[in-house]
Amino acid sequence: MPNPSDPPAIVILAAGKGARMDSDLPKVLHPLGQVPMLHHALAAASALDPARIVVVTGYGADAVTKAARAYLPEVSIAHQTEQLGTGHAVLTARDALDGCDGKIIVLYGDTPFVTPQTLLALADAPTDVTVLGFEAADPRGYGRLVTQNGHLDKIVEEQDATADDEQITLCNSGVMAANATQLFNLLDAVDNSNSAAEYYLTDIVGLARARGLSAGVVRCHEAETRGINTVQQLATAEAQFQAQARAKLIADGVAMAAPDTVYLAQDTAIGRGASIEPYVVFAPGVTVESGATIRAFSHLEGAHVARGAVVGPYARLRPGAELAEDARIGNFVEVKNAQIDAGAKVNHLSYIGDASIGAAANIGAGSITCNYDGALKHHTTIGAGAFIGSGTLLVAPVEVGDSAYTGSGSVITEDVSAGDLAIARARQVTKKGLGARLMARLKSLKSKQKAD
Ligand code: UD1
Ligand code: CA
Repeated sequence: MPNPSDPPAIVILAAGKGARMDSDLPKVLHPLGQVPMLHHALAAASALDPARIVVVTGYGADAVTKAARAYLPEVSIAHQTEQLGTGHAVLTARDALDGCDGKIIVLYGDTPFVTPQTLLALADAPTDVTVLGFEAADPRGYGRLVTQNGHLDKIVEEQDATADDEQITLCNSGVMAANATQLFNLLDAVDNSNSAAEYYLTDIVGLARARGLSAGVVRCHEAETRGINTVQQLATAEAQFQAQARAKLIADGVAMAAPDTVYLAQDTAIGRGASIEPYVVFAPGVTVESGATIRAFSHLEGAHVARGAVVGPYARLRPGAELAEDARIGNFVEVKNAQIDAGAKVNHLSYIGDASIGAAANIGAGSITCNYDGALKHHTTIGAGAFIGSGTLLVAPVEVGDSAYTGSGSVITEDVSAGDLAIARARQVTKKGLGARLMARLKSLKSKQKAD
């Protein structure tokens, strides 16, 4: 039996190809905020802690399923073999929604800006069928909401609209909520006798009213219901996403000197009091804690930066880079799959991959972990307080103990025990006066060549 306290379930329609994107990639997999567009709808849906989330797939079902599971492993998938309309698409999800007796919210995979608050308002509305509507600056292409005395009477699709209907600017966003049993009873009655010969989800409004049920509109701003149908709209949506994501971080107390130059991903998490300098790119999977500083022109992906750490300028953190408190990663340093413990410093021109660097260790300029032998990756371990001289090559697998020391320019191929000094380089040979003589000879050779 339906119980008003049952959590809602959410159906995300994502079966369409998105023909106007001019691409073989299913529309909902085009990236927005550097993740598939579908992840934005899944994020809004997940925030409600719903009873279930069902994604309706069709075109490119395998790829869409994979992307949905990557975001939410427990997501349910319903497959719509033929795209016969939005009403038919929701019916496809019927079995997957078995046991969900509360409200069902229908959301589109190509409408990424709808907020969880709006979805909640829709689920909590007292009407039997509730539609998310907006005042459209240009209503062309949208279904029009026909209202009377505050009630919603029906939705008229553009192709079926009369001249009078076309004057209506209150439009259907596509997001809708209804009680599960009523929703499917109404959908069973929807036919395809319209100019597109499709089963319209929107027809349930008129059917509900004819049965004496109530229908209403929850309104939101047009920017929240922005749909993506073309690459132009995708570019506009990206700009909107970036502007909103930056504004949210700034409101949360993140300092940005030039916000317009900072590029964020959908899941970028930055703590209060962190500072982001100009021209920083956050690819997916980055968390930056309070009080950390990311200096200009750095690129971060799949990395964690703890309190007080400083990254850049011109640093690259790749997946698995774990920076503990007060760690320092300086200019032209690349870190991949490596733990940099508290207060350790890698300040200049280094590659640290597949490594653990102990607390307060100092990695000299130009030092490199040689982690890859052409087939396998190997690990480098540097102990706490170790000093790695400039230009050291660490040929992994190799271990340098706590407080050990390597001479500049060393090629370290064997483990160095705690406290030891390792020097692994050719001894210097100096020839008295030969430098100046060699140069004079080379210059005379050059002038002779010119004369010839
Ligand atoms: C729909 C609404 C319209 C609303 C507009 C808002 C209907 C009949 N019309 O029109 O009132 O103003 O959205 O953007 O609902 N889909 C499937 N299976 C299908 C058909 C569609 O999964 O068989 C998915 C699409 O992939 C897309 C979404 O449903 O994500 C909307 O379908 P679309 O054909 O774009 O609807 P519109 O014509 O834009
Ligand atoms: Ca559409």
